[in-house]
Amino acid sequence: MKVFLMSLLTFSVAACVGKSAAPNSGSPPVANPAGAGTANASGSLRETALPTKRKMGVALATYFMSDARYPALAAREFDSLTPENEMKWSATEPNPGQFSFEAGDRLVEFAEQHAMRVRGHTLVWHNQLSPWVKGLNESELKSAMLRHVERVASRWKGRIAQWDVVNEAVDDQGKLRQNSPFTALGPSYIADAFRAAHEADPNALLFYNDYEIEAYDSPKTRGAYELVKDLKESGVPIHGIGFQMHVDPRGWPSADEMQKNLERFAKLGLLLELTEIDVPLGEIPGDAERKLARQSELARGVVHACLAVPACTGLTFWGLTDKHSWLSTPEWGPKKGRGPHLPLLFDESYQPKPVYHGVLAELAGR
Ligand code: XIL
Repeated sequence: MKVFLMSLLTFSVAACVGKSAAPNSGSPPVANPAGAGTANASGSLRETALPTKRKMGVALATYFMSDARYPALAAREFDSLTPENEMKWSATEPNPGQFSFEAGDRLVEFAEQHAMRVRGHTLVWHNQLSPWVKGLNESELKSAMLRHVERVASRWKGRIAQWDVVNEAVDDQGKLRQNSPFTALGPSYIADAFRAAHEADPNALLFYNDYEIEAYDSPKTRGAYELVKDLKESGVPIHGIGFQMHVDPRGWPSADEMQKNLERFAKLGLLLELTEIDVPLGEIPGDAERKLARQSELARGVVHACLAVPACTGLTFWGLTDKHSWLSTPEWGPKKGRGPHLPLLFDESYQPKPVYHGVLAELAGR
């Protein structure tokens, strides 16, 4: 806590220095914490995206905050924040009825200090679930889910712009996934979770979030489409759908196909968010330069698709620098094929990569 406060303090000082220092000369932004603190620094992603009316988001984690470069760069470049792990069930309700909100609080406060929107992530998910949940019978599970949604969503009532209420409910065939304990409650658990979240925080926009629903014509996309269509048509308070966009360079839809897919969901009257973008380098063929150029191209395609569809309101990258990516961990990296993945906009020294400049150019319409 102390370390975190110290880094915030350092950051705020840097922000003030940044504001009164010489105006940006128009050169590409450099990740220099001493001058990089201004909330809407000229030339940053967040400022460049302003005319597009899209929020530029980043997933942040409290445990990285002690390096002052991390909060400084995040606040300079992004105006939306998703807690990477701090609002998940295992973090917020480790034991039945015992809630823990400190880490989530810190990120919400950080966002508020830097005029960043918060995307709450996530209320009901089969992963990062506290182990005790798996031992419950159906009626206990339903009560536990409703209590969890109610307590967590009310904790930050009025301070969370969007919640990922239910995450990854559908399997790759488009059916409710069998490895989720919530599936035992039947499809109505999803509507129940949305209603409980709406009651707890009526102003939050409520999202269903999933991965591999970017391609137009896949069983999983169809399954997710039918799910949210049904919720919407039944009057369930669902306001949007989140496309995670963990790009897989081994097979990935074109920007046109993604756009067509986003349009189909928008026609349901839903908002769209790209919630967890990253572009792993590992399986891209060629030398380092070629890989970085292709990474930029793939990311530009994702940004392009969002900009082409008015209902798409924001784009969030799943981590700040390559040093902080979940794909840089031995647990998750190998699941995405050969590494190193280096999937984010900034390198391990906080410097912008070609993909950063590509995204910036796409936002600027260049
Ligand atoms: C990941 C985090 O980035 C990791 O730190 C954690 O160990 C596992 O979860 N889909 C999601 C995110 O919705 O919550 C996941 O985040 C990545 C996949």
